[in-house]
Amino acid sequence: MKILVTGGAGFIGSAVVRLAVRRGHRVVNLDALTYAGNPANVAPVSDSDLYCFERVDIRDREAVERVLQTHRPDAVMHLAAESHVDRSIDGPGEFIQTNIIGSFNMLEAARAHWQREGRPEDFRFHHISTDEVFGSLGESGRFHEETAYDPRSPYSASKAGSDHLVRAWHATYGLPVVLSNCSNNYGPYHFPEKLVPVAILRALAGEPIPVYGDGNHIRDWLYVEDHADALLLVLEKGRIGRSYNIGGGNEVRNIDLVRMICAHMDDLHPEGAPHERLIEFVSDRPGHDRRYAIDPGRIGDELGWRPSVGIEEGLRRTVEWYLANRDWWRPLLSRDGVGRRLGMGG
Ligand SMILES: NC(=O)c1ccc[n+]([C@@H]2O[C@H](COP(=O)([O-])OP(=O)(O)OC[C@H]3O[C@@H](n4cnc5c(N)ncnc54)[C@H](O)[C@@H]3O)[C@@H](O)[C@H]2O)c1
Repeated sequence: MKILVTGGAGFIGSAVVRLAVRRGHRVVNLDALTYAGNPANVAPVSDSDLYCFERVDIRDREAVERVLQTHRPDAVMHLAAESHVDRSIDGPGEFIQTNIIGSFNMLEAARAHWQREGRPEDFRFHHISTDEVFGSLGESGRFHEETAYDPRSPYSASKAGSDHLVRAWHATYGLPVVLSNCSNNYGPYHFPEKLVPVAILRALAGEPIPVYGDGNHIRDWLYVEDHADALLLVLEKGRIGRSYNIGGGNEVRNIDLVRMICAHMDDLHPEGAPHERLIEFVSDRPGHDRRYAIDPGRIGDELGWRPSVGIEEGLRRTVEWYLANRDWWRPLLSRDGVGRRLGMGG
């Protein structure tokens, strides 16, 4: 299959690109290379005959159309997005432009392509979204596919907007779409502004590890390579028009996650142990959702998907990867905003 992956130079997109090429798919990676995009993320496959790269901004409708016309993909996996909640608090405009207008451009270009090709039934537009569209949970309950949308940050609102557009393009134009909403990912190639890599790299540097608020916010963590595997399964086997919630079944409080990372650091990099002493509680993010938890019943029952790695093993692999790949993350520390506290609100 020839798959057009948008955002394929980012964290999750690059995991999809690497896995798809390894499985023998042809991949066109469309990415604008924003601060979060990094060609090094796809270095393991970039020499493959199956891989090609298009540096294109999804806000540029004509450029997106040209890519679809040139490459004539069998499927689109749409991951390109502004993805960091803290940045969305400081600058929501970029999130509206890329996540909503950019997704609209992708849908229109995909629709035109699909119509030109004679509306093939096996064409797919797979929109990759987040569990954050469902809002914040109390102490019990989990998000399922019919949970009402209740986004509470500019990031999650912009992703919710794009989810609605995708459903509307299916209902109105018959575009064969599938959607997936996933919980928090972690793993190799994670940009060093998100909690897991920040904790690892601060521990390594012997610097304070910031934990927002009381640290009791709960997230449901999924190893990124398991997510990539689930995404290819949804693309190939998911029912048209349907959405699938993807989660790792690993609900962990942020403070416990950071403590687990510190324990792995103590073991793998004993210098400076115990790293837990570096934990520092800092003021909370405005509107910080308390708890996310995914019910992955549908993707499990219908498509037979299960994550392969639990949180302990996944975190250990991740810490090992950051310790072994300093040349990957060192240059990223000087990118705009990295290492600075963002998203304090106005
Ligand atoms: N990270 C998570 O935990 C998580 C969880 C669930 C869903 N998601 C969703 O998965 C997708 C990928 O997330 P990620 O964590 O890999 O994000 P990321 O920020 O690491 O990567 C985003 C990629 O998109 C590219 N991009 C951004 N704006 C663009 C534009 N205007 N045109 C073309 N390319 C552009 C960037 O260059 C980058 O390569 C997003 O849609 C996100 O909403 C993420």
